[in-house]
Amino acid sequence: MTRAPASFVPPVAIDPDGGVPIYRQLSDWFRRAILDGHLRPGQRVPSTRSLAGELGISRISVLSAYDQLLAEGYLESFAGSGTRVAQAIPSDAWAVPGGGRRSAPPDRGVPRRIAGRAAGLHGPEQTWLDSQGAFRVGLPALDRFPTGRWARLLSRHARQLAVATMAYGDPAGHEPLREAIATYLGAARAVRCDARQVLITTGSQQALQICAHVLLDAGERAWMEDPGYPGAHQAFRTAGVRMVPVPVDGEGIDVGEGVRRARDARVAYISPSHQFPLGTTMSAARRMQLLAWAAREGAWIVEDDYDSEYRFGGRPVASLQGLDAGARVIYLGTFSKVMYPALRLGYMVVPRDLVPAFRAGRDAIDTFSASLPQLAMADFIREGHFARHIRAMRVLYRERRAALLDAIGRQLDGRFEVVGADAGMQLVGLLPPGVDDVAVSRKAARRGVSARPLSQCYLEPPSRGGLILGYGGATPRQIEEGVRRLARCF
Ligand SMILES: Cc1ncc(COP(=O)(O)O)c(C=O)c1O
Repeated sequence: MTRAPASFVPPVAIDPDGGVPIYRQLSDWFRRAILDGHLRPGQRVPSTRSLAGELGISRISVLSAYDQLLAEGYLESFAGSGTRVAQAIPSDAWAVPGGGRRSAPPDRGVPRRIAGRAAGLHGPEQTWLDSQGAFRVGLPALDRFPTGRWARLLSRHARQLAVATMAYGDPAGHEPLREAIATYLGAARAVRCDARQVLITTGSQQALQICAHVLLDAGERAWMEDPGYPGAHQAFRTAGVRMVPVPVDGEGIDVGEGVRRARDARVAYISPSHQFPLGTTMSAARRMQLLAWAAREGAWIVEDDYDSEYRFGGRPVASLQGLDAGARVIYLGTFSKVMYPALRLGYMVVPRDLVPAFRAGRDAIDTFSASLPQLAMADFIREGHFARHIRAMRVLYRERRAALLDAIGRQLDGRFEVVGADAGMQLVGLLPPGVDDVAVSRKAARRGVSARPLSQCYLEPPSRGGLILGYGGATPRQIEEGVRRLARCF
């Protein structure tokens, strides 16, 4: 017989003055818990000594109850491995007098309902998440991640786990990591900040959630790039924000159209370095126009800079935050693309005067992010592994991108108009007008290829569908094979 895990003390309710003998109350409680499935077959029950001690009752009562349950076949006893819930529950256990089986009493209450804004939520279809290669969006080259080095850093800290690291920590995050991020952002992204303005989050998804809750009251309006990042839609929707779709053109979000649709919106959510999903880089003129609107209307700009480490054409683009003289930009970044998504570490840079509000907002959501990965991440940056990894991945993604463009050129010529391939780890293939991108995506999923439909990134009905293809996590061979399978889906 396999060893069962140690038992938990169950929440037995005993009424010493209830007029029913304690042993009977106890055996009734266990019988009910077993029948309701709270205690499962094979699960160990506490020893008579420890249960009597926990409940403050005599051991004799517990022994009598257990004897009764053993006799009825609800419990089994094994020499050396204690007493457990029987593997086979007595066959008449579910019978009720007069025939039939026990079932939950009918619920005649008022129908239950969840919040309207939650009812409008829907995550991506599982089929688009199944593939770990071609062409899962947002997946970096996990096959090239320096796992050995990372494991050494993690275990270095795990072995010397200080009491302070195990206790509740600062909602803003581990100070040395915030320092390292501030230095990195200043040098690589021209972000103007010091470590006090940096808050560590559980991925940038959480940063979006915090922004929605701290910057807007429910019912207030926010400009959303259309098409845009579904994760941002989810975060703003759950905060009860009214999203105003603002079209994106070759220069980024159309600020003039935003003003026409909702001049007094409180927030604009944008991804200016590499628009998600179309890949546009926001022009300098639009950046100025957006900052001027924010200054005029007292609005905030949420800048999502999720993958700008990787650029393949043109000059590096600095952050919008670095141009902002009015402290109106909240800058978001993530380690999901440059490390790996399951790390769940992101960060935000907030204007100095907003630090207390954002610290409190961050604290309200999940107190703070797990400490151990933060300690390892700080070392990973400070010891130069981060910069080295980014450099290596830039070369690799350039190759993978070239392999994808080449395969599309050969196998999908004329059926695919590629946009947004200058940066990041994904591109978009626009489909001919009238082609249903969801139908093509589902066909692709059946062939083991993930190709997320562009139409699902829109708040307003799109004029044209497309497929978003991530290439960061796919080897050239997977890319070639993925495009071959995709070509059969039209
Ligand atoms: C536009 C955008 N923002 C943020 C993220 C990253 O989110 P997280 O840091 O929560 O993994 C992604 C990932 O796909 C993204 O595409």
